[in-house]
Amino acid sequence: MKAHMITYGCQMNEYDSHLVQSQLVSLGADMVDSVDQADFVLINTCAVRGKPVDKVRSVLGQLRKEKATRRLVIGMMGCLAQLEEGQQIARKFEVDILLGPGSLLDIGAALESSERFWGLNFKDELHDHIPPPPVGKLQAHLTIMRGCDHHCTYCIVPTTRGPQVSRHPDQILRELDTLLEAGVKEVTLLGQNVNAYGFDTGAKLAGYPSFAELLRMVGASGIPRIKFTTSHPMNFTEDVAAAMGQTPAVCEFVHLPVQSGSDRVLRRMAREYSREKYLTHIAQIRTHMPDAVLATDIIVGFPGETEEDFQDTLSLYDEVGYDSAYMFIYSPRPGTPSYRHFQDLPRELKTERLQRLIVKQKEWSARRNARFQGTVQEVLLRGDAYSAGHLEGHTRGNHPVVVPKAHGAESAGLYRARITATTPHMFYGELIGADGQALSVLPNFEPEAAGLSSPLAML
Ligand code: SAH
Ligand code: SF4
Ligand code: F3S
Repeated sequence: MKAHMITYGCQMNEYDSHLVQSQLVSLGADMVDSVDQADFVLINTCAVRGKPVDKVRSVLGQLRKEKATRRLVIGMMGCLAQLEEGQQIARKFEVDILLGPGSLLDIGAALESSERFWGLNFKDELHDHIPPPPVGKLQAHLTIMRGCDHHCTYCIVPTTRGPQVSRHPDQILRELDTLLEAGVKEVTLLGQNVNAYGFDTGAKLAGYPSFAELLRMVGASGIPRIKFTTSHPMNFTEDVAAAMGQTPAVCEFVHLPVQSGSDRVLRRMAREYSREKYLTHIAQIRTHMPDAVLATDIIVGFPGETEEDFQDTLSLYDEVGYDSAYMFIYSPRPGTPSYRHFQDLPRELKTERLQRLIVKQKEWSARRNARFQGTVQEVLLRGDAYSAGHLEGHTRGNHPVVVPKAHGAESAGLYRARITATTPHMFYGELIGADGQALSVLPNFEPEAAGLSSPLAML
């Protein structure tokens, strides 16, 4: 079998795709790079907004055409697969295999089945399953919990991924060991709401550490960099900030989605915290990690959001001074409370507010990134950059970095770089050795080709 996978959505989906891909390989499949070469195409889907759903529809449309001309098995997995909406789409586009986010280990049975196979039950074995480490990669994801116990009124995730189930710490540490042995340098712990780790349905699970304790445990694993996503402010506690500050391997990067700066909107979203409470968390983070890089998620144009509410979001942005933000236009999702109960705002109004927020984000990112100019940062280089003679990677704070290849640092790895220029989106730097001196650049460096003849060209 020649199999090809297409992945949409968040990092949890990337982890799940890796898991299923390793299953496919163990079943004897060859993974191929394009649909043309494949006799099995599996799409990992996202349902969080309308756009990723439209994308899946269009890809499935093409696949159905292709299937009419040759032998092709079509599979659909992930969040959309779990929804009635996704199942209708699957029927329409003649999908053969459908696997919900809890049924990924059914892939073997699905491929053996001569009939259409739909696996939609959550199987507990998934929690004990340790996928092999990614081959030749320095970065890996590690899912520490699945599902979500919150009920934000706009969000489809609790429906697609079910209630929160934390993975046993022993499984997490075992998986971490396999990653360490494989040479992985950076691990991102994943969950919809990692701060609630070990507290499924709100109750503490016997034998499970809290998230802060887990951070200290994984911090001692030998992996040089630990990151995590996503935090929910409701479950954020000061001991998480303290554990981060005290655990050198845990990166000084916090992604704490606020969604809105208006208490009125936060209540309608059922986010379970106030603006003031959120700002307390930010203050705690800054007490324990004065230089922390702060990122957030913001939804603009939630139903009923007034100009005044939106101003509250803008002023919160200024008050926190975020390093970066993922900004979304509210997308009504069938099956969510806000879809049922509230009227969507006009598209133009939502777009106009998003544009104003983007201006704010760019101003702040430029300002916040500029503070790194001239500093030395630990960079994880992944490999060749788009521009000749360069490597690309990222900092502990998740800033993308480009550096010229240098003697002693020709390929992927963990290095130190002096940041020579910053933009709102990225850093440009030079690699330095243990003595603090710049490493000499390899001869195939082509500054003109990269548009980098002067670092100022980047600004
Ligand atoms: N569990 C995570 C986020 C999951 S979804 C958390 O709460 O932090 C990722 C982001 O998508 C959310 O933070 C939110 O900003 C956005 N999002 C979720 N549902 C949305 C919707 N219906 N419309 C627009 N954005 C949405
Ligand atoms: Fe999309 Fe949410 Fe599912 Fe991730 S968990 S794939 S963001 S719907
Ligand atoms: Fe969604 Fe809120 Fe959970 S955004 S994933 S219901 S924390």
